[in-house]
Amino acid sequence: MSGEQRQWGGRFEGDMDALTREYTAGVDQGLYEYDIAGSVAHARMLGRQGIIPQGDADAIVAGLAVVLEQFRRGEVTWRPELEDIHTHVETLLREQAGEAAGRLHTARSRNDQVSLLNRMLVRQLCDDAAEACRAFILVLCDLGERHAADPMPGYTHVQRAQPITLGHHLLAYGEMVLRDRERFQQCRERANVLPLGSGALAGSPYPLDRSMVAAELGFAAVSRNSLDATADRDFAAEFLAACAITQMHLSRLAEEVVLWASAEFGFVKLPDGFATGSSIMPQKKNADVAELARGRTGRVYGELLNLLTNLKGQPLAYNRDLQEDKEAIMAASRVVVPTLRIFAAMVPQLVFQLGRMREAAAQSFSLATDVADYLVKKGMPFRDAHGVVGRLVRECEERGCELNELPFAVYREASELFGEDILALDVDSALAARDVPGGTAPVRVRAAAAELRGLVPHRGPHPPTPSPAAAGEGE
Ligand code: ARG
Repeated sequence: MSGEQRQWGGRFEGDMDALTREYTAGVDQGLYEYDIAGSVAHARMLGRQGIIPQGDADAIVAGLAVVLEQFRRGEVTWRPELEDIHTHVETLLREQAGEAAGRLHTARSRNDQVSLLNRMLVRQLCDDAAEACRAFILVLCDLGERHAADPMPGYTHVQRAQPITLGHHLLAYGEMVLRDRERFQQCRERANVLPLGSGALAGSPYPLDRSMVAAELGFAAVSRNSLDATADRDFAAEFLAACAITQMHLSRLAEEVVLWASAEFGFVKLPDGFATGSSIMPQKKNADVAELARGRTGRVYGELLNLLTNLKGQPLAYNRDLQEDKEAIMAASRVVVPTLRIFAAMVPQLVFQLGRMREAAAQSFSLATDVADYLVKKGMPFRDAHGVVGRLVRECEERGCELNELPFAVYREASELFGEDILALDVDSALAARDVPGGTAPVRVRAAAAELRGLVPHRGPHPPTPSPAAAGEGE
């Protein structure tokens, strides 16, 4: 392409170096829906305000509809020399609308145009992620309810600590994913400000109706500062932070699935559809899905760090470094959203070994705190009770038995306060005793599941629309 044909042709003579062309190319091919929607709204407003002739505005809008169809049908050949989606759309528009196409870029710069596109992209990716969170939360609520009274050992330091219920454990993840969902929703709100009208950096000398464009594109507000609007990528960094935290949560759960599926724990059997075998060891069934979710977490963190580092040295306003944001947000989304979806499908199919979990819940002196609490209820200060039970545990270790297998006489010797009913203490009574809001008592777990379920809608806000970003990548 000769210098004359480029958008900035007037100033340039020779062709761009081929390697440079490749080096400077972005990854925005798939984002034509946003770019065209933005251009349609801009052109309508230009016509309505009399900034360009109404006839030209109409020709532009009609031409953009044709271009959109060309993209959707996959008829557009990408031309690297055109640099990005913005120039592609305008070049294709010229074939449809002729001279009028040259008026579309009035009162606009690619700098406010790309900020618009990125905000529209982040809005959609936030919706996709929030929707995937919502579906997973509901799955966890169902399981939480189903296993509200099924005991398992609760751990601290990976040491058996106190019995909890499996439902309580799963609902802990429900709470995490609820916060993840809120983060995506809040990120969307902050991204949802119209930057168009900021021009290259200083605003625009035309009588724009920015509110009209905002309303047409579903933005809740227009930006107050043109430098900020063109240079800010907080919303992208925030999206990546939300992705990083969500993936971290999923990775913790993934780690538990891996542990629980081991012979050492034996708490779950993996469903065939979500496990893989070994090429050499015929007996093996591996938790590869969980391992990959855990293993991809670093990629998501990496994208967050990538963008924060990218931003930290940039003076105001737009710099080409900003082009890197799209790749980062799409890459993170391509990990997080499918991970949420596959977990929502896999977790309900895990075959929990409830008998084995119940058995493990009762072992390793897991009722020691409850024995101490028994003494406290009879008037002993907790610190003293802790000491008494510590000595009983040592006695058990010497005898090789559990606390409820000690003869009553041993209890009596340890403290006068013990009655025969101490031997009736078991896992179920320990669970039932934790009857405070937020506790693991089955009644509380059921209530928590119901409450959590009430915090998310049962149907998604919109029918799940595949985001152009994801569609372009053959996810
Ligand atoms: N492709 C660029 C990006 O994604 C948009 C154009 C930026 N403007 C410029 N003056 N180079 O950030």
